[in-house]
Amino acid sequence: MTASHAPRPGDARAQGPTVADALQQDSRSVPEALLEQCYAFLGDEDLPVERYISREFFQREIEYLWPNAWQWACREEHVPDAGDSYVYDIGPYSVLIARMEDGSVKAFLNVCTHRGTRLVDAEGCTYTQGLTCPFHGWSWHLDGSVRNIPGQWDFPHTVGDSHRLADVRCERWGGFIFINLDPEARPLEDYLGVMKEHFQQFPLEQRRIRAHVQKLLPANWKTAQEAFMEAYHNFETHDSPHGANAQYDVFSEYVSRFIHTIGSYSTAALSDYPGDKWRKPPMTEQEILAGLSMDDRELGAGETARQVAAQALREQFREQLGVDLDHCSDSLMLDSIEYHLFPNMFFFPGIMIPMVYRFRPNGDDIDSCIFDVLVLEPLPEGADHPEPPEPTQLGIEQSYTEAPELGWLAPVYDEDTGNLDLLTRGLKTSRKGVTLGNYQEARIRRVHLTLEQFMARGKAFR
Ligand code: FES
Ligand SMILES: [Fe+2]
Repeated sequence: MTASHAPRPGDARAQGPTVADALQQDSRSVPEALLEQCYAFLGDEDLPVERYISREFFQREIEYLWPNAWQWACREEHVPDAGDSYVYDIGPYSVLIARMEDGSVKAFLNVCTHRGTRLVDAEGCTYTQGLTCPFHGWSWHLDGSVRNIPGQWDFPHTVGDSHRLADVRCERWGGFIFINLDPEARPLEDYLGVMKEHFQQFPLEQRRIRAHVQKLLPANWKTAQEAFMEAYHNFETHDSPHGANAQYDVFSEYVSRFIHTIGSYSTAALSDYPGDKWRKPPMTEQEILAGLSMDDRELGAGETARQVAAQALREQFREQLGVDLDHCSDSLMLDSIEYHLFPNMFFFPGIMIPMVYRFRPNGDDIDSCIFDVLVLEPLPEGADHPEPPEPTQLGIEQSYTEAPELGWLAPVYDEDTGNLDLLTRGLKTSRKGVTLGNYQEARIRRVHLTLEQFMARGKAFR
């Protein structure tokens, strides 16, 4: 082979059938969005380990990343009626989101404009017809304008809107309410990019929150989220032969995706991976179906495990929830389709794998983070959103199995998060940077490249 024919970095792929091959077998028409492929080599240098362990880097994120990045704070159904509000904390900052009389939503800094007391103590939902500071009793209307300043005679210098609550940028998409602490931030739309178009095919506003689990994890927020950005860990972490052929897309500086098909893989794909333990004999379609918890169903001639499993799921949703998913492709019913929005958000449009994630620093601790998992479920056409569940909160030492609402996902999350403490400790000992695969770990590199941009040009909070 001459040098000119040598594969370029990032061009190599695992052997065996691709995601596109699996989608071709779909029993329905596959949404255009899932047929798109978008990858370009982004470099192969190690990432500096300081990004995960240095107090100085963490502090720069507090100053330049979090106050300038769009992030979802809550769902629309957390503030259904006028007067409902929701407090969202990110690092040292706190934002209050409130539903107005006209149905719109506003956001404010959760801070008194007298001497700076935090107004609402705890994160989460509250109801208020107005806000009163617990220190000297200044109060504001729902729209942030001053209602009353006790002893107004001493404050002739508070005029007009001079002491209204500080507005925070707030936009809505997909049933989520997003905030950005930078008053001059570009619109959310600029960051969503292809997600805006793609999710028209997967409307997340028509879903309800079936479960919400919030867990403390023993790792930097980036270490933790990066454990969810590739399927390369499936072999060792989950002892699973699935994932070698996942498709990775990097659509923009802010949006990436993987598609990991369920119930379609070939052991040919595993031949790149060392060790006998994953070199199992090829599975039949019947065995694959059994692996999808359908051991009692005999496949007919020409049926595939994916088609049958997807149809069973459609019927289950119709019977149990009154939801019609007949038009929904097998891929959307079954697969792990994960979009990442910079810096810390994940949206899965699938039906069997229907989560939303958010990773945040835990106060000012570099080595721990808060991981929110929402499990979304389709709502029948025209149905109102039921009241969202209170988050189940789990500490670092607790197991996800203590949140039974997660069902089969709970032990999987225990595996996913079980290595984080080892990573946190190992990174502090490491003499080298973090090495990434060119294809399977490209999304992690994309986040770091964009993070560098924020650090370079971001504005400090004040
Ligand atoms: S600090 Fe809030 S009223 Fe004085
Ligand atoms: Fe995993």
